[in-house]
Amino acid sequence: MNHPTDPHKMIQASTPAGTNPGYMPGFGNDFETEALPGALPQGMNSPQRCNYGLYGEQLSGTAFTANPPERTWCYRIRPSVKHSHRYDKINLPYWKSAPCVDPDVTSLGQYRWDPVAHTQDGLTWLTGMRTMTTAGDVNTQVGMASHIYLVTESMVDDYFFSADSELLVVPQEGRLRFATELGIIDLEPKEIAILPRGLVYRVEVLEGPARGFVCENYGQKFELPGRGPIGANCMANPRDFKAPIAAYEDREVPSTVTVKWCGQFHTTKIGQSPLDVVAWHGNYAPYKYDLRTYCPVGAILFDHPDPSIFTVLTAPSGQPGTANIDFVLFRERWMVAEDTFRPPWYHKNIMSELMGNIYGQYDAKPQGFVPGGMSLHNMMLPHGPDQDAFDNASNSNLGPDKLDNTMSFMIETRFPQHLTSFAATEAPLQDDYIDCWTSLEKKFDGTPGKK
Ligand SMILES: [Fe+2]
Repeated sequence: MNHPTDPHKMIQASTPAGTNPGYMPGFGNDFETEALPGALPQGMNSPQRCNYGLYGEQLSGTAFTANPPERTWCYRIRPSVKHSHRYDKINLPYWKSAPCVDPDVTSLGQYRWDPVAHTQDGLTWLTGMRTMTTAGDVNTQVGMASHIYLVTESMVDDYFFSADSELLVVPQEGRLRFATELGIIDLEPKEIAILPRGLVYRVEVLEGPARGFVCENYGQKFELPGRGPIGANCMANPRDFKAPIAAYEDREVPSTVTVKWCGQFHTTKIGQSPLDVVAWHGNYAPYKYDLRTYCPVGAILFDHPDPSIFTVLTAPSGQPGTANIDFVLFRERWMVAEDTFRPPWYHKNIMSELMGNIYGQYDAKPQGFVPGGMSLHNMMLPHGPDQDAFDNASNSNLGPDKLDNTMSFMIETRFPQHLTSFAATEAPLQDDYIDCWTSLEKKFDGTPGKK
């Protein structure tokens, strides 16, 4: 005789279930997390008195009336007004914001850089930021900047937030810890992190020296691209994005908060750590993503799709289909297209394309585009495979072929990118990059059938 299942016999998973310790899975979820039991109010946001004597405070990442609004409720030891005092302007000469058009610098062209080398200088997240390009206008909240970071020293009793931008961090070397108001994110190469506008954090070196790329997004937040006919699976899956669980410190030491605001930097002195959020809930939070979980989709019979097929995250510009920024990943994948020129085709593009190499070899440029290096193909400037890549792609036998040991990315923006003086004169610019197409010969002689 069958009895109904006894609910008391159900076996429950441990908490948290099925996810990485320290993180909660999902993209843009309405998360909730508390570092002390009962610190998070239930069923309401603003109780008359919060548990543990905490202060309730909302961090708004969108207008209140945006649909959907993005905001997070924090329950913290002190309200943020206690982490902000009078401001003194400081100079971080290598961190530039748009508009930054240097009359002595030519941005028209195709550019490629070797990795920016480390120096003997001790550099933090703030002093080690080296802006390469800027686009748009930070004051009108459109466009972006690209940076290389060189970090050898941890921030100590020193904190930062950018009111200007959301930061997309792409490590290439070393490991960093982002100790934020909303929890801890540890980051290493093959992962990326997003640090939202307004979030306070310090950056510690777990393994140095650390080098990588930053895309500073002045505009609307990054979101997952619409998959269209691809459907609900593949590309970047929402479950692989990880937001940190709540973490706080109750440390009363003289501290400094540096603020980036309308392209300028100011500091304020406070008497304690601002990382004092004991519990939070909401959908405005930092997160990380493991690029190895990106499932590429491509052509399985012939031809080469547009690179937008590899978009990981997109930041809209207000003009549908035309991104302020697309973050696009070129990773290991199989090439199977028949009778096809398989590398990226030659083209000109209204969008401006900045690329970085995380590791390995990129298929359109077997030489010269090395891990840690960057390239820029600016608005409407032609580019494509070099001579070696063209010859190989035109003459090789086309069986199934795995592109292995390769991970590069592209930051594509609708706005032209302007080189900084650092990118044009101090960074290791390859003067001979334009010559990679010089040896391409005319093959046409009017003979039909010739290939
Ligand atoms: Fe391109």
